[in-house]
Amino acid sequence: MHPLEQLRDDALREIEAARDEKSLEGVRVKYLGKSGSISEWGERMKTLGKEERPVVGKLLNQARNAVTTALDRRGEKVREQKESQAVATIDVSLPGASGPSGYSGYSGYTGYSSLSGYSGYAALERGSLHPLTQMLERSIEIFRRMGFALAEGPDIEDEWHCFDALNTPSDHPARNEQDTFYLTDGRLLRTHTSTVQIRTMESASPPIRVIAPGAAYRRDELDATHSPHFHQIEGLYVDENVSVADLKGALEFFMLELFGPETAVQFRPHYFPFTEPSLEVYVRSKALKGGEQWIEVAGCGMVHPAVFEAVNKARGDNAYDPEKWSGYAFGLGMDRLAMILFEIPDIRLFSQNDLRFLKQFA
Ligand code: DAH
Repeated sequence: MHPLEQLRDDALREIEAARDEKSLEGVRVKYLGKSGSISEWGERMKTLGKEERPVVGKLLNQARNAVTTALDRRGEKVREQKESQAVATIDVSLPGASGPSGYSGYSGYTGYSSLSGYSGYAALERGSLHPLTQMLERSIEIFRRMGFALAEGPDIEDEWHCFDALNTPSDHPARNEQDTFYLTDGRLLRTHTSTVQIRTMESASPPIRVIAPGAAYRRDELDATHSPHFHQIEGLYVDENVSVADLKGALEFFMLELFGPETAVQFRPHYFPFTEPSLEVYVRSKALKGGEQWIEVAGCGMVHPAVFEAVNKARGDNAYDPEKWSGYAFGLGMDRLAMILFEIPDIRLFSQNDLRFLKQFA
């Protein structure tokens, strides 16, 4: 074995044995540094005879390449190990590093006011779900048990999905600019989640059974019970032989699951353009604050044949043949339901982000 090959093998062995970047650098200097033992052969070449020189030159190149490659590879490995060790020692489930004294009001950004005065991390509060989110999760869970799937649609809508397809004529007051937020291009912020009924039927054939929770927008003055930005859960069930009894059964089950077995549910005749017949849903429960009062929580009804026809026209088929299919739909006022469930007196509290309010639902 040529001494260069011996040096190369020694170097490779030492590289494999190196445990950190520092010892790797040591190996590099020892063999490939300016006066490293492999590098020295570069000088020695000049003293060699014509025949030996190309042979040694080749060996020298091979040794340099092999050692350089091994150094790079091992270096990468060592760095990887170092990183994963560092990560492995972090326990992400530990609470924040502040003392147990806990939260003492919002103190704003404390900053790193001075390096010496810096005494650890700011208190990391355990977060909790917003009451509307909690309300939403409970509702979804109940509807899931009845076989409803989740559907969604955009908040920015066109007039067709929000009104026309829902059998709402162009002179209907809901379409008024006083009631609806219009964008300059003619689109609008959806005034109800009923738009998702249309979007769902456009893309899926019956039977369908979906709920669509989401925000809706109206140009209402903000007060204790009205907000220009509120939330609904839309429901749509289309199948053969769906009846008002099915509708009443589903919503009654939902209300009792949500508010408890002492809840009474009442359906009163009403008018909506997209359902016939149409009903409003009221609940009353001794368990709830306000006790004996009936509170309106939803609108509902049997899907109007004109809605099916509008969908058929958009689809270009007769998938929702009103002779074959029937369905019910409903729209629940989520903010209202959450206000009843959690005894929240003012709808504005949902959007003010006051921690004193939010912490009560943690
Ligand atoms: N979209 C109605 C509203 O916002 C509520 C509603 C009524 C939804 C009847 C429905 C329904 O699906 O069938 O006032």
